[in-house]
Amino acid sequence: MNADLFDGLPDLNLQQVCLDDGAFLLRGFAKNVDADLMSALEKVVAQSPFRHMITPGGFRMSVAMSNCGQVGWITNRSGYRYDVIDPETGRPWPALPETFMDIARRAAMRAGYENFLPDACLINCYEPGARLSLHQDKNERDESAPIVSVSLGLPAVFLFGGLSRTLRPKRYQLVHGDVVVWGGPARFNFHGIAPLLEGYHPILGRKRINLTFRKAL
Ligand code: SIN
Ligand code: FE2
Repeated sequence: MNADLFDGLPDLNLQQVCLDDGAFLLRGFAKNVDADLMSALEKVVAQSPFRHMITPGGFRMSVAMSNCGQVGWITNRSGYRYDVIDPETGRPWPALPETFMDIARRAAMRAGYENFLPDACLINCYEPGARLSLHQDKNERDESAPIVSVSLGLPAVFLFGGLSRTLRPKRYQLVHGDVVVWGGPARFNFHGIAPLLEGYHPILGRKRINLTFRKAL
């Protein structure tokens, strides 16, 4: 690990794991703001509710999704894209809450990415059995900005591979409050989530929520 990442006071409760060149797991980084994130999230999904989108191949995604920010990631029969309008409501996506912006910026900075200014947050909601198959995030225009992913609720197994789909992904358990940041040479690494196991989380019950921050525009 690079000692320069720890400028300022070291947090003894924090465990940081390097997943690849440019990719870090910041264990527990969002834990102390979980209540703020959850109350902001409730307001967002009251405006733009979770829905199961359809892939271009015609499959209903097992993960329910919503978005906030200037643009939101959507998929339907005709493809994937970012759009300023939520197709379910016909209105713009809710704005990025201040607490979301703040945790994303601080996590990016901790991983060595200064001045991360996300304009999109994809919100994934998993129930036991839901999964996200291996993919790359490549619908974003700005390749220099990292991806910041905040996990809340039930634990999940994060699959983190390399730049080629054929490279067998490593498996990391993500729990409530964990944050993963990947950018630079790891920006286009394949990643996914293994089928969520049955369980009960004291705050989120039978759910896992993931907030994925991107600079899409
Ligand atoms: C994603 O790749 O969009 C989300 C990954 C996760 O749910 O942790
Ligand atoms: Fe992704």
